[in-house]
Amino acid sequence: MGLKHQTCKSSSSSNFMPIRFSTILTLILLSTSFFLFLSSLKNTQEPFFGGDENTQFNGDLRDAKFPWNKLCFGPSFEKLKLAVFSKTWPVGADAGGMERHASTLYQALAAKGHEIHVFTVPSDRRPHWDIHEGNLHVYFAANDHGSVNCSLAFEIFNKVKSDGAFDYVHTESVSLPYWRAKMLPNVAVTWHGIWYEIMHSKLLQQLLTDPNGDMLEPMTELQEAMPRLVEEIRFFKSYTQHICISNSAGEVLVNIYQIPQRNVHVILNGVDEKEFVPDQEAGARFRQKHGVPANVSLVMGVAGRLVRDKGHPLLYKAFSSIVKRYPGVFLLVAGSGPWRRRYAELGPNVKVLGPLEPLELSKFYNALDLFVNPTLRPQGLDLTLIEAMQSGKTVLTPNYPSIVRTVVVGEEFGYTFSPNVKSFVEALESAIKDGSNMLKKKGVACKNYVHSMFTATKMASAYERFFLCMKNPKYLHCRASTIEQNNAVYIENNQTKTARTDGRS
Ligand SMILES: *[C@@H]1O[C@H](CO)[C@@H](O)[C@H](O)[C@H]1NC(C)=O
Ligand SMILES: *[C@@H]1O[C@H](CO)[C@@H](O)[C@H](O)[C@H]1NC(C)=O
Ligand SMILES: *[C@@H]1O[C@H](CO)[C@@H](O)[C@H](O)[C@H]1NC(C)=O
Repeated sequence: MGLKHQTCKSSSSSNFMPIRFSTILTLILLSTSFFLFLSSLKNTQEPFFGGDENTQFNGDLRDAKFPWNKLCFGPSFEKLKLAVFSKTWPVGADAGGMERHASTLYQALAAKGHEIHVFTVPSDRRPHWDIHEGNLHVYFAANDHGSVNCSLAFEIFNKVKSDGAFDYVHTESVSLPYWRAKMLPNVAVTWHGIWYEIMHSKLLQQLLTDPNGDMLEPMTELQEAMPRLVEEIRFFKSYTQHICISNSAGEVLVNIYQIPQRNVHVILNGVDEKEFVPDQEAGARFRQKHGVPANVSLVMGVAGRLVRDKGHPLLYKAFSSIVKRYPGVFLLVAGSGPWRRRYAELGPNVKVLGPLEPLELSKFYNALDLFVNPTLRPQGLDLTLIEAMQSGKTVLTPNYPSIVRTVVVGEEFGYTFSPNVKSFVEALESAIKDGSNMLKKKGVACKNYVHSMFTATKMASAYERFFLCMKNPKYLHCRASTIEQNNAVYIENNQTKTARTDGRS
């Protein structure tokens, strides 16, 4: 709470914030990219982000062309009653990104006093009792296969509704199918990946599996992607409000899917800021425990499912090439899947750890110098990337629009590459040449940036404001809110004192 107040301080002239040159650069880059973003959109009404980082956002929130997470919202006293449709709800450790997002978000909103009713199934597909914890109510409505039985979910939905109407209905992707969404006036959907991005992903995979165009296998997946995209564009308009988790997806919805600008909003996924924190000692202990030799020069790590479309063939080849020239590099692999065995073949510079529990995962990030994300899936956002950055680690990742426009928005945060082996190797080489001090510095920049945008607290507060706005238009005009202040961006760094970015000192 204290933190929140601090981060949300208004921009009055009395703040002398410790700030580094890299911050200024970051902010300039950030604001430049926002500015470019704004000028690329034709219908910009007001230049609400014009180079001065202390600009207040004065206007209708529906016109915000940057993530809502960037704004600071004060507390609200109005309580909401929300219905949520989610494909699954996390039970056990192996839950994926979307359900983790849903549970983080709705636990936070319930904790803020809103009444939340979730219609879903357990992620382990086994029978479980419904959950009623304070304001959070989770109803499991499974069919025989363990996925959501929409009719059953709707029966429960209507029963809860009979005790008092819902202020808004939220669905995680198509958990609430469009033909049902059409019948409800107040539906917002969060897209965690859209077919336009999936098509991009299939294209990359095609280029990688068949680099010379030998056409040994038909391009089935790629060919099937286009009709799916067409279908998706047609049915998206059945949902009233659209929330995207990256700037680039928001643009695609407006420019390609033809959703009205005012119905498209960007709210970034947040990661629990208490779960992933920098802890050097924990990192050192983790290295020791898993036998990372003390004389290695750089430890890189990868986490997640070890499957082809997460880019493991790419990392495998790039690392085999790099380790020949730089015998001091070491690779830690967290996760399970078919590529596990291939990595084990790579010799003493690779250690495969298997899947890690959340607590171990946090230590794993801390043990690294560089987090590598080789994914071939530009859709959505990998939470591991955010988690690593929360832990104060710099990252090396493909240059997909969803990533470079929203997460790794500048070189000061890490390294990006085109998804091919040559470009990957080049990026790895520049990280190795930069050396551990530079990597640490970028890690601090990452930590500060994600802390200002990608925390669970910021996400919950942005969603809270969104639903309040949808319930009552008076919340749309948020004169009081300000763009994130510098002090939020640089919470940790109180060593160097320099002028504020606006020239006052
Ligand atoms: C889904 O729920 C409805 C209503 O409870 C029920 O009649 C139907 O048999 C269920 N369908 C499946 C596939 O479980
Ligand atoms: C680290 O030490 C081990 C054992 O002393 C040695 O075999 C290895 O070559 C060293 N590695 C590097 C990168 O110096
Ligand atoms: C930042 O300042 C606080 C209080 O002034 C101090 O306790 C803390 O150790 C400082 N942190 C760093 C990283 O210098």
